[in-house]
Amino acid sequence: MSPHISLSQEPGPIGVFDSGYGGLTILRQIRNAMPQYDYLYLGDNARAPYGTRSFDVVYEFTLQAVRYLFQQGCHLVILGCNTASAKALRTIQQHDLPEIDSHRRVLGIIRPTVECIGGISRTGHVGILATQGTVRSRTYELEIGKLYPSMSVTSLGCPMWVSLVENNEHLSPGADYFVRERIDKILEMDPEIDCLILGCTHFPLLMPKISKYVPSGIGVVSQGKYVADSLRDYLCRHADMEGRLTRNGTMRFLTTEQAEAFQENAKVFLSSPLEAQRVFLK
Ligand code: DGL
Repeated sequence: MSPHISLSQEPGPIGVFDSGYGGLTILRQIRNAMPQYDYLYLGDNARAPYGTRSFDVVYEFTLQAVRYLFQQGCHLVILGCNTASAKALRTIQQHDLPEIDSHRRVLGIIRPTVECIGGISRTGHVGILATQGTVRSRTYELEIGKLYPSMSVTSLGCPMWVSLVENNEHLSPGADYFVRERIDKILEMDPEIDCLILGCTHFPLLMPKISKYVPSGIGVVSQGKYVADSLRDYLCRHADMEGRLTRNGTMRFLTTEQAEAFQENAKVFLSSPLEAQRVFLK
């Protein structure tokens, strides 16, 4: 049973949550598409990475983050993290939201990503590069199976990739080895793949290296744009939720680690300076 929290009914910002910095790649695209809204980003950097954690732990941490964002005035929270979308979204939607406030919403990023691949893959063979947690959850297989039952899906965990990004090593010469090795491996597992989904929000930062090693003719899907399009569509269809969003064009940043470190590293993702505030989740 979730402890009772009292929530303001005043309009508020859109919350975006990730285990660390990866969700900033989603925030950037959402904000480009809809600069009019206010955004509140929360990175659980002190407890990242989530990719190797169990279902129970990812669920518990994600629920804490969602509740925190609700307490900060958000009516709508986007889980800008595949691992949290895979391991926590459904339970939060079905079990926790009705108890916390049935009018608030939490949306994930896997479904909007999967929707786009029908228009991209011609061979019907798709590869998913993600955290080990997302791969083990088989959420991509399940979601793709619902929309495109005849598609063949091959998934591969890339445990080093998140660490490269979290430690700001993603453009270093050493990163090439880890990127190339995973790409070669997944294409060896299924040589007919013609569409690779980056199923982790940290991975777009590795795009310069990824493009170097993915053979031409294979599409690489980075999620941000598809998530932004899907959110815009959602808000068009849900005027009640749209009416509960404030519109001053601001972005605020919260992190569970030191604010200075977040400010320094987050610049890489957003290409502009920002101010962050440290918070504690429980
Ligand atoms: N950015 C997260 C995702 O999209 C995961 C990174 C982590 O392992 O914490 O899956």
